[in-house]
Amino acid sequence: MMHSTTTATCTAAERVVVESFLGGGDHKTLADDVLDGLTRPFKELPPKHFYDAHGAELFDQICDLPEYYPTRCERAILTDRSAEIVALTGAAELVELGSGTAAKTRLLLAAMHEAGTLERYVPIDVTESMVRASARRLVEEFDGLHVHGIVGDFERHLEHVPPPIAGKPRIVAFLGGTIGNFTPGSRRRYLRSLAQLIGPDDFLLFGTDLVKDPKIIEAAYDDSAGVTAAFNRNVLTVVNRELDANFVPESFDHVAFFDRDREWIEMRLRAQRPQRVLVGKLGLRLTFAAGEELRTEISAKFTPERIRGDLAAAGMELVDSLTDEDGLFALNLARIRA
Ligand code: SAH
Ligand code: AVI
Repeated sequence: MMHSTTTATCTAAERVVVESFLGGGDHKTLADDVLDGLTRPFKELPPKHFYDAHGAELFDQICDLPEYYPTRCERAILTDRSAEIVALTGAAELVELGSGTAAKTRLLLAAMHEAGTLERYVPIDVTESMVRASARRLVEEFDGLHVHGIVGDFERHLEHVPPPIAGKPRIVAFLGGTIGNFTPGSRRRYLRSLAQLIGPDDFLLFGTDLVKDPKIIEAAYDDSAGVTAAFNRNVLTVVNRELDANFVPESFDHVAFFDRDREWIEMRLRAQRPQRVLVGKLGLRLTFAAGEELRTEISAKFTPERIRGDLAAAGMELVDSLTDEDGLFALNLARIRA
């Protein structure tokens, strides 16, 4: 569907700029993370390394799984409430952290377009193909929209987000519950660092998966079709390719369990038998004992108190928290505390 406007002055291609900050041996810090995370007594890798082109595709498949409710719930909230969010914020610009395919973001952009405020979209993601494809698609769809894509790490490259459009409010969006992939201390630190993008008239819009029956959560991270297991093992394929390692991904079991004390789900990879792995580019030799686990992701689940507490610690306040009809997921609108 093409939305029309009277202000388009340049072609769709001219309305796209994509900048990349992940070139020149950066490898998304993979080498540092492998060296640091896989030589610890308890092995761990950060989740951003899941998302090479194949991992991004697997994540897309996860979003369509019957067990994986977060995407469906957040989409339902955005379908019902985007117009309201746009009316309340008056936003002309949407900056999105970990934008992926921007499939749900479309709903917000369409509401901004409908309200006549839409000017610029700034997606930030480590997966270059996603940033480029979504930028191309969205300028075709929304006549007059400018897209300034950033291929980069949303933790390290926030300073490359362009300055706000003078006098126009922006929404900084962090959808999908990705904020839950930080550990609690880093999450608060990161929220504080986001404040640099959020002026007094701007808003933070972030999705949070909510605490619920652990069986529902565990099924979402251990689906019957095995897509999440493949997504989890893909990180070993990424390390093999990028750092010349010789992991045998099939010799690791996918593990997902809800930690009731910490209220987060963890994904791990468990060695089926003792193994030796060589990471060629680092000259690093690793050993795994039979049953040894490597943590690949935590995904925190939230209560209203946790959401408010995190915001307060970052100098922000909750404006509204919108939930789906089953109360599984919340989309939160916040601003800098007055
Ligand atoms: N926002 C989308 C995608 C969520 S998946 C949705 O709601 O469906 C998480 C996304 O964040 C992926 O696209 C991944 O590539 C990106 N990502 C993860 N860690 C990142 C980081 N440190 N910097 C930039 N992007 C990151
Ligand atoms: C991106 N992030 C919010 C997803 C989550 O649910 O924590 C990643 C994911 N991991 C397994 N399934 C989906």
